[in-house]
Amino acid sequence: MMTLTLDTPALARQYEDLSDKQYEHGKLLIQALGLGLGWRVLDIGCGTGRLTEYVAGLVGKAGHVVGIDPLQTRIEIARARASTNLSFQVGRAERLDGFFDNSFDAVYLNSVFHWLSEKRQSLAEIYRVLKSGGRLGISTASKERPHELDRIVQTVLRRPPYARYPDALETPPYKVTSEELSALLEQAGFRVRTVEIRSFTDYFDSPGTVIHFSNASSFGHFLSGLPQFLRTAAIREIEFELEKYRRPEGIVLTRNVIFAVAEKK
Ligand SMILES: C[S@@+](CC[C@H](N)C(=O)[O-])C[C@H]1O[C@@H](n2cnc3c(N)ncnc32)[C@H](O)[C@@H]1O
Repeated sequence: MMTLTLDTPALARQYEDLSDKQYEHGKLLIQALGLGLGWRVLDIGCGTGRLTEYVAGLVGKAGHVVGIDPLQTRIEIARARASTNLSFQVGRAERLDGFFDNSFDAVYLNSVFHWLSEKRQSLAEIYRVLKSGGRLGISTASKERPHELDRIVQTVLRRPPYARYPDALETPPYKVTSEELSALLEQAGFRVRTVEIRSFTDYFDSPGTVIHFSNASSFGHFLSGLPQFLRTAAIREIEFELEKYRRPEGIVLTRNVIFAVAEKK
């Protein structure tokens, strides 16, 4: 069950420290969007604002970037980055009513779309605030090719006693396939430019770091579908499975991300 109440200031700080993976693939998404100097850009689900700040550097002083996120804890960290062309506010993809029609040259969601339950409503809002010809970039976990970590977690959660809690399997809860994403974009009126899956190899120093990364990235959702009394045992089993992925470079895991770029007609 998706809720925004499990985040804490400590998880937000951890995300700031552990989000290099999202930051690095985010830069690839931004590159694919081909932003220009002077553009107005909206970053939906900006988290602690690392990528938003990077984008503000690309659009320059004549441009402006707004980052929104529903989590107050994350926006508080992001606000320390605010400058003349960079601002942050609490907000969510489904309700962009603080923004005018046709007011952005580009909108992007980096590692956010798999958290949105109301995708059609969110895409309709994004369409509304984009200028004609404006660009939308999405990077999101792939349903057809799950991350290696998700498969490891699912292997453990399908065992007794965890198997009694099937909801625990669905994190993040609203993943789509590339095909589903293309269809959603087209139904919302966008012209789809590219949709592709890219694979990344991640290195972690220990299984414990993998767990911290997952919990901070999911704002407290990691194993949240399990009752509290089972979580420590499940983490121990997941850590045991993760050790099997240890190589000289550390724990090595593959992550598969859908990248989509679309345009408002
Ligand atoms: C993995 S983080 C990605 C943060 C950032 N985009 C980055 O690249 O580091 C996912 C973010 O999605 C945000 N989120 C969850 N539900 C959302 C919604 N309905 N609208 C906008 N953002 C949402 C979360 O608060 C969280 O900050």
